[in-house]
Amino acid sequence: MRRVRFHSHGGPEVLRLETAPDPEPGPGELLVRVEAIGVTLPGVRATRNPRTPLPGVLGGEVAGAVVASGPGVEGFAPGDRVTALSFTGSYAELATVPAAMASRIPDGVTAVEAVALVRSGHVALAALATAALRPDESVLVTGAASGVGHLLVQLARGRRVVAAAGSPAKAAFLRELGADEVVTYDAVPALTDGVDVVLDAVGGDLLPDFLGALVPGGRLVFFNSGGGTVPAYELLAGSKTITGLTMRRFAATQPDRYADHEARLWRMLAAGELRPVVHAEFPLEEAAAAHAVIEARENLGKVVLRPA
Ligand SMILES: NC(=O)c1ccc[n+]([C@@H]2O[C@H](COP(=O)([O-])OP(=O)(O)OC[C@H]3O[C@@H](n4cnc5c(N)ncnc54)[C@H](OP(=O)(O)O)[C@@H]3O)[C@@H](O)[C@H]2O)c1
Repeated sequence: MRRVRFHSHGGPEVLRLETAPDPEPGPGELLVRVEAIGVTLPGVRATRNPRTPLPGVLGGEVAGAVVASGPGVEGFAPGDRVTALSFTGSYAELATVPAAMASRIPDGVTAVEAVALVRSGHVALAALATAALRPDESVLVTGAASGVGHLLVQLARGRRVVAAAGSPAKAAFLRELGADEVVTYDAVPALTDGVDVVLDAVGGDLLPDFLGALVPGGRLVFFNSGGGTVPAYELLAGSKTITGLTMRRFAATQPDRYADHEARLWRMLAAGELRPVVHAEFPLEEAAAAHAVIEARENLGKVVLRPA
């Protein structure tokens, strides 16, 4: 099969197309013929991270058809269409995924739609659940045009939604998704009306500004890979709360809620209430170009790779 790995750390240019033996599904795993691969900011960051072991393999969301089941797997047959997370390499024509986390793709939904919806949608719903956002509350979504952020903007509609992004060129896209106000990050400190909740996909040096946008008693959910330093006095002075979120822990500790979220995502897609937007599709061999789009912070929605 063909796959993409990297043998030195660096930018998108380190990604290499290689041939490799077909993987075998281990206990509890499915082997999937991959039709679509989700490109994510954590994956893009991993190639530059000196702590990523070499040769570097990127895991993440895939969608495609089941080829075979490993020992102990029941309920799946060859040809079943699923989307799932691969921890052993998603940038490939064939990927192994844990069967327990595989989600069946409903009829009529394409692999590209599935890969743009499920993982990012899970993060978005988990962020909303963690914030316990009420219908009467206002919310600031940062990284609002990202794969996760553009779904969050749609899911938060019906209340005051402020969308923050890196460029004013994203404003029309975000308004069309339902944002009431769109700001660039440099304008966040000038927001006149504070928000009850911040759902932060960005973090880093901007975290203090995002905390500053909260009204007294407000809550920030921190689910990004940008790091940052919390100004603790801001929490004290404004009685504010910051909560971290990883999907791995959310799924492990709240399995019923996770399953409920998954059903809700498929239901909302079918009803036309949630629209995953695909910014661009690239063939697998152009993985570097896909990463470059995200590094340039150009994407409006999800970036997807296609092996075939
Ligand atoms: N907690 C979890 O379990 C979990 C799971 C999945 C994803 N996430 C997080 O969700 C966030 C969004 O991820 P995604 O995969 O949806 O994003 P994505 O589709 O890859 O979009 C990337 C966007 O993020 C923004 N961004 C902010 N800082 C950036 C930087 N330093 N370099 C490049 N882009 C930057 C850019 O938009 P602007 O220029 O408009 O800001 C860029 O267009 C990430 O922080 C990711 O770590 C968390």
